[in-house]
Amino acid sequence: MKTILVTGGLGFIGSHTVVELQNSGFKVIVIDNLSNSRIEVLDSITKITGTKPNFHKVDLRNKKEVKNFFDLNIIDGIIHFAAFKAVGESVEKPLEYYENNIGSLVYLLQEMRDRNIDNFIFSSSCTVYGQADKLPITENAPIKPAESPYGNTKQIGEEIIKDSCNAHKLNAIALRYFNPIGAHESIEIGELPLGIPQNLIPYVTQTAAGIRSQLSIFGDDYETPDGTAIRDYIHVVDLAKAHIAALKRLLNKDNENNFEYYNIGTGKGSSVLEIITAFQNSTGKILNYKTVERRTGDVTAAYADTTIANEKLNWKTEKTLEEALRSAWNWQEKQSNNHS
Ligand code: UD1
Repeated sequence: MKTILVTGGLGFIGSHTVVELQNSGFKVIVIDNLSNSRIEVLDSITKITGTKPNFHKVDLRNKKEVKNFFDLNIIDGIIHFAAFKAVGESVEKPLEYYENNIGSLVYLLQEMRDRNIDNFIFSSSCTVYGQADKLPITENAPIKPAESPYGNTKQIGEEIIKDSCNAHKLNAIALRYFNPIGAHESIEIGELPLGIPQNLIPYVTQTAAGIRSQLSIFGDDYETPDGTAIRDYIHVVDLAKAHIAALKRLLNKDNENNFEYYNIGTGKGSSVLEIITAFQNSTGKILNYKTVERRTGDVTAAYADTTIANEKLNWKTEKTLEEALRSAWNWQEKQSNNHS
């Protein structure tokens, strides 16, 4: 049985990936510093899978803590989620973002080099493409200058991994996520945004739940059919499964290059208005919304060409947008019930 280290394994995408790893027969060790996650998620994962993952509270910014962890644990591969992810906050606190997202990555890669651990999966983002010149976006689309320190940490992160793969015995895959949404069907795990949500779907579900009075559509004057911006919303469980596919590719030594990168999306773009309609239709909830100015830094449209990921990873999405939105709503209702 292979042992996989999942950093940030109690976060939104991390927790769903731990579930899929355990369901696929991997032994999982989670490390997380609980800076943006809750320890209770460990029990939720245990409820879903019947197995409690091994957990260590480790702060990856602390080189000594990282080294101590690797001294005590034998690891076959790493899936690295632990990172800060708020675009606006990264503009205010760039150095914290570079320290956390880049520093941690370097320490992990150094331990991998020193201990001959050679399988690494990295959480990257479609943000590396900026406003792509052609849609759908293929992996060959040029990397555009980053719009934020957060986006820059994903670009620099990929470069650091590529250089490490060239210099050392390391095999890595970067997964460039489009917009992950939804929750596990058990509604034991889901997204837990702190404070006012920045992302569309949590804002939608909190508005439907009455926590927010009104949803703002950021701009209806984009050059799109209905004027609102287009994204590729992928169910987090489908996204989690892409990590298992990528990991198997590395463990089976099926990879053609020591550093590979894939678009992980559905291939289908939806506008903000289409999301609102789909949410209302699939949940029966009516949303109160208004249109406001565009949000700085937003692109007009981004959706994936997933041909290469489908072929090389032998993976494809299985869930519909409606299922994803319904699961996000079910999760929201559960949170609201817990707090009332
Ligand atoms: C954002 C980040 C991206 C990051 C991703 C993580 C920006 C510019 N980009 O993607 O780098 O990887 O989150 O999940 O922040 N919208 C509204 N009203 C809202 C919220 C959003 O109309 O209250 C619109 C946005 O303008 C956008 C779409 O909904 O067109 C999706 O927004 P969001 O969920 O924040 O994701 P991205 O901006 O695509």
